[in-house]
Amino acid sequence: MGMRVKVTMLLVIVVLVVKGKDKNEKICNAGWECKGSKYCCSQTISKLFQVYQFEELFKNRNAPTAHAVGFWDYHSFITAASVFEPLGFGTTGGKQMQMKEIAAFLGHVGAKTTCGDMVVDGGPWAWGLCYNHEMSPKQDYCAKDEKYPCVDGVEYYGRGAIPVYWNYNYGRIGDGLKVDLLHHPEYLEQNATLAFMASMWQWMTPVKENQPSAHDVFVGNWKPTKNDILEHRLPGFGATMNILYGDIICGNGLIDAMNNIISFYIKYLDKMGVGQQHYGDNLDCAKQMPFTTSSSS
Ligand SMILES: *[C@@H]1O[C@H](CO)[C@@H](O)[C@H](O)[C@H]1NC(C)=O
Repeated sequence: MGMRVKVTMLLVIVVLVVKGKDKNEKICNAGWECKGSKYCCSQTISKLFQVYQFEELFKNRNAPTAHAVGFWDYHSFITAASVFEPLGFGTTGGKQMQMKEIAAFLGHVGAKTTCGDMVVDGGPWAWGLCYNHEMSPKQDYCAKDEKYPCVDGVEYYGRGAIPVYWNYNYGRIGDGLKVDLLHHPEYLEQNATLAFMASMWQWMTPVKENQPSAHDVFVGNWKPTKNDILEHRLPGFGATMNILYGDIICGNGLIDAMNNIISFYIKYLDKMGVGQQHYGDNLDCAKQMPFTTSSSS
């Protein structure tokens, strides 16, 4: 009995200490953009990354030859970011890390939505956000899934800023955003704010429990285990590709598809004035074993 009382008292004290700690943590509000979180004490994204920088990165998105003219804009990007800034998106780790995370996230976006090639004005890096959906789907992206079965007549081809493919991915991301994307995947090619939100959700959310998110591996929230180190998974931009694309991109040596994504990140760092030399450790994932294999993701 005496023992039990002691244990109970100890628990009460621990709870009080933990609660007290929470109370002392500074919480901030930064206008409409970032509310009620310690991360909102940082400068917000719209302060660090302004409309002229967005225009510089995606300057050809409304060119006559682009495929999503008038769709993407800075305001949608910041509105979407306002949902994730209180969770640390672009608001973690001080100005340089914040800028780097924006460049890394947008680097993925640019690499996936470019329509430029090496010959046209500015190369592929000047043509990000050229698409908002896959142009000629070669398959129907419908897989048997108990939780997220395909809806009749609905197509699950790639849509968005980091394109979403397959019924189960639309289902999962829709759950995360509380929007019924399983029945309405087309929302991602109709609403730029939602399209950015879907890609930020993918950036901020682990694919599986007990795995880090792309955000976590990039900003330093994640410490690799012995097994991670053995399989060459280390914090940095490389691991973000591992989380988003797994063995399609990573663990295959220095393949073009991987080098291409990296080149966007580095180019954007430069264009944002951070300097491409600040790309950080473990830029590639050439030797990384996947967190998740493509067959199971
Ligand atoms: C776009 O999506 C966002 C997020 O779900 C929503 O708040 C907004 O009202 C939508 N805009 C339109 C025009 O439907």
